[in-house]
Amino acid sequence: MDPKLQAAQILNDNNRGGYTVPSPRLYPFQWNWDSGFIALGLSYVNEEKAFAEIRNMFKGQWSNGMLPHMNFHHVDPSYFPGPELWGSDETEWAPKNLLTSGITQPPVYGFILSRMAERLWGVNHSFEALVREIYPKIIASHQYLYNFRDPAKEGLVYIHHNWESADNSPAWDDALSRINLTEARDVSSLRRDLKVADASQRPTNDNYNRYIYLVDLFKKYKYDDKAIFEYCPFLIQDILFNSMLIRSNEGLIHLASLLKEDNTMVREWNQRSITTLNKKCWSGADNFYYDFDLRTTELIKIKVSGGLMPLFAGVCTTGQANDLKNTMMKSFKANNYTLCPSCAIDEPCFDPVKYWRGPVWINVNWMLYHGLKRYGFDKEAAMVCKETIHLIEKNGFYEYFDPRPETPENKKKLGGDNFSWTAALYLDFVHNV
Ligand code: GLC
Repeated sequence: MDPKLQAAQILNDNNRGGYTVPSPRLYPFQWNWDSGFIALGLSYVNEEKAFAEIRNMFKGQWSNGMLPHMNFHHVDPSYFPGPELWGSDETEWAPKNLLTSGITQPPVYGFILSRMAERLWGVNHSFEALVREIYPKIIASHQYLYNFRDPAKEGLVYIHHNWESADNSPAWDDALSRINLTEARDVSSLRRDLKVADASQRPTNDNYNRYIYLVDLFKKYKYDDKAIFEYCPFLIQDILFNSMLIRSNEGLIHLASLLKEDNTMVREWNQRSITTLNKKCWSGADNFYYDFDLRTTELIKIKVSGGLMPLFAGVCTTGQANDLKNTMMKSFKANNYTLCPSCAIDEPCFDPVKYWRGPVWINVNWMLYHGLKRYGFDKEAAMVCKETIHLIEKNGFYEYFDPRPETPENKKKLGGDNFSWTAALYLDFVHNV
């Protein structure tokens, strides 16, 4: 079958009426950043479905502005952790008519709508109505981050759970190891992911107990961000998350100009974020951006693919961009590996098959491609684009891929199959080459 048709088919099959599940067997609900990427892909196939995807995501928005990482539009006992773990119905901010998780995910809607606007603004009136309706909600979600996740008011926001970003990244190991497991419950028997995915590609049980410990802590404090800031052992200013926030701010500035709205506040947020990210997280010695651990007040010196995302956000000077691109070629691309491994291949913790510790993710590649293009690295951008399309056409629409060269033993296909954002972003890649 033509891979474009196959991608459209996957998005159709994974649609549950108004929203799309990331992977039918592994992830049966609506996820936040997934739905943003999915909406972009859907906009090539069925615009109304793309708009519904976004509207249904924002139905889960809390009254304090937080856009949750999962919406439980329906019940599905095959997934852990489901709504009962989160207890979001006990907080004052969660919506009354929809169960959600209690944490967020990287902000994508500003840049997703801005990208869709390049094609649809002035052409499709229902798209314009969607932007009018959703723009203030995206502003509220960024306002939440700057109000509650940036206590020093320096422009960098923190994540307080690994599920808020690249969730099994080795950059979180130290912070997670601070959790005393004797205080955590053992949830290994509740896990459902190991029934549908290979354990060697998934987080360990010890780690899962730590993840749930954090959720239990949030519930104990009824999701009060002030208390979480005080007591949570895991508080990290993540480069991936902040770069996406900055790029989404930029998207909002674009949308504001289309809507003829004042964008002064977003510009101020963005300027502060860009300045601090460069001042605090850039290592001139290593030519790389590192996440910052707010508990140890130190940079986490592990090179993960999120550290390349300031290219996407336009944070780097021309010189920094050049140095960062060279680090990418040296540490992520050597040995004929496929770009972009989620962890540098010269890091001791690099693991080519384990979830976010080495495998290639298509959403990261999409952002990297746009970042490289933004700085005029056309050759490298074309390489990422070509490799991504080839990876998918050769292997299928997997959740993630082994970056090592293919051999009879290494089939490259990892995680869930028929994965929605892989299909969606494939469509955006092929429509623009
Ligand atoms: C995995 C990914 C996360 C994604 C979710 C649904 O947990 O790590 O980023 O949102 O799956 O696809």
